[in-house]
Amino acid sequence: MKKTLFALAAVATLGSAQAQDAGQINIICSVQAEWCNLIQTVYARTTGVKVNMSLKGSGEALAQLIAEKANPKTDIWFGGTGDPHLQAAEQDLTLEYKSPSLPQLHAWAQQQAAQSKYKTVGIYSGPLGFGYNTELLAKKKLKAPQTWNDLLNPAFKGEIQVANPASSGTAYTMVATLVQLMGEDKAFDYMKKLHANISQYTRSGTGPIKAAARGETTISISFVHDGPGEKLQGFPIETITPSDGTGAEIGSMSLIKGARNLEAAKKFYEWALTGPAQEIGAAAKQFQLPSNKTAKVDPNVPDFKKIKFINYDYAKYGASAERRRLIAKWEKEVNSLPR
Ligand code: F6P
Repeated sequence: MKKTLFALAAVATLGSAQAQDAGQINIICSVQAEWCNLIQTVYARTTGVKVNMSLKGSGEALAQLIAEKANPKTDIWFGGTGDPHLQAAEQDLTLEYKSPSLPQLHAWAQQQAAQSKYKTVGIYSGPLGFGYNTELLAKKKLKAPQTWNDLLNPAFKGEIQVANPASSGTAYTMVATLVQLMGEDKAFDYMKKLHANISQYTRSGTGPIKAAARGETTISISFVHDGPGEKLQGFPIETITPSDGTGAEIGSMSLIKGARNLEAAKKFYEWALTGPAQEIGAAAKQFQLPSNKTAKVDPNVPDFKKIKFINYDYAKYGASAERRRLIAKWEKEVNSLPR
């Protein structure tokens, strides 16, 4: 670990390891704790800047930024699904900033920036799919689900977990994906049927795949890049993307309007867009696809070329009114149903 930190520190582009008292930044971090912690350590050691991290799921992060709008305590929001970042942009919670590094990023990351009028930017991407516990499936003599409809198999009653779309960007990506894949009426009929097989709607998007890895549930609906990290810890977990089509997130980063440490925040933002900084994800066993084209792509990152993607409309499903409407409809028509 020490060696990794040293190597990562050497590639960070700002400041010197000797820097002292170089200020501080307040970050809401919406990726997994291992990645947030490694960023915090590497950035502080290489620049001297104190990084205060608060870990929050995408929906919860947006709710906090709305609550502190009049008196922001956050400088940067790092990670989390792109839809709530677009809503934050629309609600004027985030600051317009056009990074000179934009041309180094993949088209999807630049598109996320342009769509928000440069109030957010894509830092990674990852496909939605299923996680499954191979031992539990074998014990139950069941086949791994291949399609969305396979999840409706009555044999999976009480065996599936997904997060709650109000708190989790992963789950909102699922709702928006199904609506685009099936049409709204059919998608809601589908989610009502799926509800019968769900044991729990978790707060965090990664909760279900952790539960599947640990044998607490058989199947999860998750971002598939969250599977290999669990497998590397020795858990019997595999992932698959539905053959009938799926969506992907554009994990994003935004500068907060009214940030108290704006100059320091901009430096962090620029650093976080560099290839070496983005490789810290894989060093922390997080396998999203980095947005910087020069970042090394770890072999555990899902192969996008093998996945059937829908043409996800990020502008439409990232709009506040649409998110509010779909989540309220999900609460009323799906979550309130008995199981
Ligand atoms: O950190 C893992 C991850 O799947 C990210 O790729 C994603 O942006 C985030 O979690 C979403 O978390 P949540 O669903 O809790 O908002």
